[in-house]
Amino acid sequence: MERTLVIVKPDAFEKGATGKIIDRFISEGFQIRALKLLRLTREQAEGFYAVHRERPFFGELVEFMTSGPVVAMVLEGQEAVKRVREIIGPTDSEEARRVAPDSLRALFGTDKGRNAVHASDSVESASYEIPFIFSQLEIV
Ligand code: RTP
Ligand code: MG
Repeated sequence: MERTLVIVKPDAFEKGATGKIIDRFISEGFQIRALKLLRLTREQAEGFYAVHRERPFFGELVEFMTSGPVVAMVLEGQEAVKRVREIIGPTDSEEARRVAPDSLRALFGTDKGRNAVHASDSVESASYEIPFIFSQLEIV
C-alpha cells in the first residue's frame, strides 16, 4: 500500500480548516498512519523544500511555511500519491476554484503561495518527506 505526506499549511490551520481537511481524506478512504501538530523552523522548512532552493519564490515559501503551526500526516491507500494530489487540486488556489472547485486548495486556499495543503508529488518525494517529518516510532 502506498504512503504519502500531507501538511495542513499555516493558512489553513489558522482558519480552522484542519478538521475538515482530515475528514475529507478519511471519507475518501485513506488510513491515517501518523499525525502531529508542529511549527517548522527556518532550517527545517528549507530542508523540506530543498528541491526549490533556486526558485524565485523560495524565500517567500519558507517565510510562509514557518509563519505558524502546521499539521502533518502520513496517509496510506491505493495510489495514495496520485489520488491525494487530485484531492488537493492545482498549486494555485485561484486556478483550483476554476478547474477543480471541490478540491481542498479551491475550498481553503487563497492563491499560488497560500494554498492550504501540501502533498508529496511522487513516490520518491514521499520517501524523502515522510522520514523528514516523522520518526519510525511515530508511524503506526
Ligand atoms: P506543495 O509542494 O506545497 O504540495 O505544492 P506543489 O507541489 O503543488 O507546488 P510546488 O511547485 O512544489 O511549489 C511548492 C510551494 O511553493 C509555493 N509556490 N509559490 N509564488 C509562486 O509563484 C509560487 N509557486 C509555488 C506554493 O506554496 C507551493 O505549494
Ligand atoms: Mg511540491
